[in-house]
Amino acid sequence: MIVSNRVPAPRRGAKPEAGGLAVALTDALGRGEVLWFGWSGEIGSATAERPREIVRGRTRWVTVDLSAEDYALYYAGFANATLWPLFHYRLGLVSFQREQLEGYLRVNERFARALAPLLRPDDRIWIHDYHLIPLGRALRRLGVGNPAGFFLHVPFPPPAVVAALPRGELLFGAFQAYDLVGVQTATDAAHLEAVLAAIGVRVPVAPFPVGIDPATVARLAIRAQGEQQVAGIARTLGSRLLVLGVDRLDYSKGLPHRFEGYARLLRRAPDLRKRVTFLQLAPVGRAEVAEYRALKRELDELAGRINGEFGDIDWVPLRWVNRAVPRAVVAGLCRLARVGLVTPLRDGMNLFAKEFVAAQDPEDPGVLVLSCFAGAAFELEGAVLVNPHDPQEIAEALASALAMPLEERKARHARDRAAVELRCARSWAQGFLAALEAAAAARFAAAA
Ligand code: G6P
Repeated sequence: MIVSNRVPAPRRGAKPEAGGLAVALTDALGRGEVLWFGWSGEIGSATAERPREIVRGRTRWVTVDLSAEDYALYYAGFANATLWPLFHYRLGLVSFQREQLEGYLRVNERFARALAPLLRPDDRIWIHDYHLIPLGRALRRLGVGNPAGFFLHVPFPPPAVVAALPRGELLFGAFQAYDLVGVQTATDAAHLEAVLAAIGVRVPVAPFPVGIDPATVARLAIRAQGEQQVAGIARTLGSRLLVLGVDRLDYSKGLPHRFEGYARLLRRAPDLRKRVTFLQLAPVGRAEVAEYRALKRELDELAGRINGEFGDIDWVPLRWVNRAVPRAVVAGLCRLARVGLVTPLRDGMNLFAKEFVAAQDPEDPGVLVLSCFAGAAFELEGAVLVNPHDPQEIAEALASALAMPLEERKARHARDRAAVELRCARSWAQGFLAALEAAAAARFAAAA
């Protein structure tokens, strides 16, 4: 049983997923069936007692709605205005309200009540991300004894940062309920272990860096070249080199620094003007949280300033797009791009960095410019690493990536491609589930 706040449930009538996490998890679970539980994404009336259900092959999707109040307290409040900035090392952005913490705990209890009756004795439970930390404890309180693992997709900061969270023991004590806790990197594991040790929680914590399905991304990228939208963009680029950024609009992604870095490049290297185009996709979400609205205004203004300063009647230096773009089109754009610009100030992994690598033509690959504070930087040693806080460093990395000779591009890409293949989505899920099995067996043996 997989539990996550967002679930990639297929829409009615749609074809089954061709790749991604859903397929990796189904594969990893072997012959078994998968039940995937989470929020429907809607504010409405599908309660814990009467959830929505869709079945596709061996996967059953069960989702519940949130009430407007739960959405405000649990999702927009404690999860995304308290935990998200805290876990991304942004204490200045953390807001804390006792009611939001209580709402968050209440939604987790409600999810547990909806889940418990669906469980069979031989089910393994795998819970995902910061929205659902207390879910395992809520299930245990209902008498659920199944193996239960938790995976944190976002970073986990050092104890001194975590200490700022009021009533932290209420939240972090909940980790005790799991047989295994997985995080993205060894650094995250060390931080979490230290926090748990300080409050006497003993649970195995280990890094399991999440991966993608590189073959699927490569296939999408190749196929997209022939399709209208991507071919059309290729035409509008002409001989210009494409710099591509793809992120959710989020303050953790370092977008203002990135824009500033690009502006510096154009200022210092006038010969590059009209020879490059920077396309930044950043679909908007979490707009109920004030920081996200403020960031949108800041970036709109910056983008306008860059295009005003450098643009010409025949050249838009920065294409700034806040719409969500289909996965296949993103893959196609990656293959067109000379540079993938991924400069989060902090990121658990950043799967786009891995997708960018997988989408390249190995005979003429683009270069990945990557923040040293993304989890992916531990694996992608062929990337040009930058400190994302320094626009000057971003400008220099961009200049060197744009000028990089083919042989060096190929050598760097081959290294990264091997890394992306080594730790793919399937091996990630299989590795976690095997470790969960072993940890739960140890608990059962100790109890016997
Ligand atoms: C991050 C989190 C996910 C979350 C996603 C999108 O990747 O780790 O748990 O689903 O952002 O954010 P949203 O708030 O739209 O679910």
